[in-house]
Amino acid sequence: LDNGLMRTPPMGWLAWERFRCNIDCDNDPKNCISQDLFRDMADRLVEDGWRELGYVYVNIDDCWSSMQRDAQGRLQPDPKRFPGGIAKLAQYVHDRGLKLGIYGDLGTHTCGGYPGTTLDKIETDARTFAEWGVDMLKLDGCYSNATTQELGYPLMSKALNATGRMIGYSCSWPAYQGGLPPTVNYSQLGEICNLWRNYGDIQDSWTSVLRIVDWFSDNQDILQPAAGPGRWNDPDMLIIGDYGLSMDQSQSQMALWAIMAAPLFMSNDLRTLSSSARFILQNKVAIAINQDPLGVQGRRLLKEKSGVEVFWRPLSEGASALVFFSRRTDMPFRYQTSLRKLNYTAGTYKPYDVFMEKPLGLLKDSTDFVVSINPSGVVMWFVPPAAQWQKQAERGRMFY
Ligand code: DGJ
Repeated sequence: LDNGLMRTPPMGWLAWERFRCNIDCDNDPKNCISQDLFRDMADRLVEDGWRELGYVYVNIDDCWSSMQRDAQGRLQPDPKRFPGGIAKLAQYVHDRGLKLGIYGDLGTHTCGGYPGTTLDKIETDARTFAEWGVDMLKLDGCYSNATTQELGYPLMSKALNATGRMIGYSCSWPAYQGGLPPTVNYSQLGEICNLWRNYGDIQDSWTSVLRIVDWFSDNQDILQPAAGPGRWNDPDMLIIGDYGLSMDQSQSQMALWAIMAAPLFMSNDLRTLSSSARFILQNKVAIAINQDPLGVQGRRLLKEKSGVEVFWRPLSEGASALVFFSRRTDMPFRYQTSLRKLNYTAGTYKPYDVFMEKPLGLLKDSTDFVVSINPSGVVMWFVPPAAQWQKQAERGRMFY
């Protein structure tokens, strides 16, 4: 969607995967969906260095609202859990240089059973969100059908635009229509939404990450061309820092999401995040790869019999990124290849190992090299042409 927003994939924090529909603030006040949770996360984003790295969205998901609309038919937050109201929360978030996202559902109810946005309520809800000062809307698709969605998603896009407020628009539409043509029209999505969920929900497990990566790679010929500045495929939240991933698996999720030009919405508890998870999520070069201004989504280049998969993403200034991913479950695997075998044009490059945070030597396209990839782990490289690296370094624009 060409509304000037999200020219690179949006980054921030989203409540759902980690905090779900926990509304039990009496017994679990620290972890329930309430204004305090979002304020806490906003504080962390500012104080722990996230905001400077680009993680600026604080996003509410399902279960924020009251069970009833107000007398004027408008959505309203649960009065016990959001006593200050959403406008006040938006103010709190804005005062800290962050943005607030909210959640709605194009249907009779949200997936969690809260009031939905039926077609007749689209304009009202868009206006309400704009009045509150909301910066992004995720529009879910439970309790609606294909016909309603076909009308509703474009209508909400128009309604948000008509408010005059810049509101990023995340559409769950394709996820409810199988994510593939002919039921999903990606050129239309690119015109009406800034990002869209293509596939099922992520859960806190490695199996879930693998399922998503496989689906995105298997369908990359359809998905990859759909992405670009202002319009992104969304493989769902980062679960790094939760309970399901090892450190290697966490690096893999970060690397693959960066290569896929995926929105980087963490769903974790920033108040108790381990420093190892934080290092992965705050890796500057991984973030720079994800945020590359060219906005071209990467692809899986190779699927080796050994269980190694190679992913590649073209970046601006003639650079590129590579991810060597091992699906093996035995021991670190020594994978031998050359840049030429990975379709690189003849020349000399200067790769940088993203997670080792180490520049490697000059590398000719024709020279064989070996990377040692941990089980369910990655080796990620940023690969500028040697000449480019020199120029960038002189301009002081290199990250290393
Ligand atoms: C389904 C969505 O895909 C999830 O991300 C989350 O928003 C839930 N609905 C909330 O009920």
